[in-house]
Amino acid sequence: MEGEDRVLEAVGLVKRYGTREALSGVSLAASRGELVAVIGPNGAGKTTLLSILAGVQRPDAGSLSRPAGEVGWVPQQAALYGKLTVAENLRLFARLEKVADVEGAVERMLEQTGLADRRDDQVATLSGGNRQRVNIAVGLLAEPEVLLLDEPSAALDPRQRERLWRFILDRARAGTAVIYSTHDVAEAERYAHRLLVLADGELLFSGSPAELEAACGAGGLDFEGAFVEFLRRRGH
Ligand SMILES: Nc1ncnc2c1ncn2[C@@H]1O[C@H](COP(=O)(O)OP(=O)(O)O)[C@@H](O)[C@H]1O
Ligand SMILES: [Mg+2]
Repeated sequence: MEGEDRVLEAVGLVKRYGTREALSGVSLAASRGELVAVIGPNGAGKTTLLSILAGVQRPDAGSLSRPAGEVGWVPQQAALYGKLTVAENLRLFARLEKVADVEGAVERMLEQTGLADRRDDQVATLSGGNRQRVNIAVGLLAEPEVLLLDEPSAALDPRQRERLWRFILDRARAGTAVIYSTHDVAEAERYAHRLLVLADGELLFSGSPAELEAACGAGGLDFEGAFVEFLRRRGH
């Protein structure tokens, strides 16, 4: 997918924290409806990369072209207000983001995320899965062309994960470009069109799950084992 379908492109992103280089020249692009997984171990630079794409942090070098409209950002730590209800949180964030039709956006997100029957529940009383749904609903309030999610499934049990992915796949089918990070190789293999492997701030691989499997040379190992071997052979 290329050309007019491309909604986000980053070239040569570099980010330093003091003398430590968290990103060393990372390039990537995403198109309408594409699901891109950024896989890598802890400390690889996933959060740094996504927060730069989200516009929350600035790179020290490199260029970024983002869509004219909003980019949806779902951080790993939800910035929700526990004492407010689900609907109140959505309303608050819709106002902060200057969404044109606040009530319309709130109703649409309650509907889409299946949270309508929880609208008057205090966020603090929700299960982890439902809280994550509110977190994602906040990221989608402005109907962004690009949705960025940082380890969206990390705190969820298998059933909640399943529901989360069904919802995210639906968004992608509706045309949203989705870029998410995970350290779960199997999950990335199952729920992405394209995988980016990041280790120590370096992009080691970009391609389809089948191409990564081939590059890993999965001789006898399961995919996860082959992936660890892939990182080891490249000195990580
Ligand atoms: N605000 C910060 N200040 C200093 N170092 C940081 C900061 N944020 C991240 N780092 C360092 O940058 C590297 C990449 O971190 P991060 O992007 O959080 O990786 P990941 O999300 O893949 O676990 C790590 O070595 C981390 O310690
Ligand atoms: Mg992280």
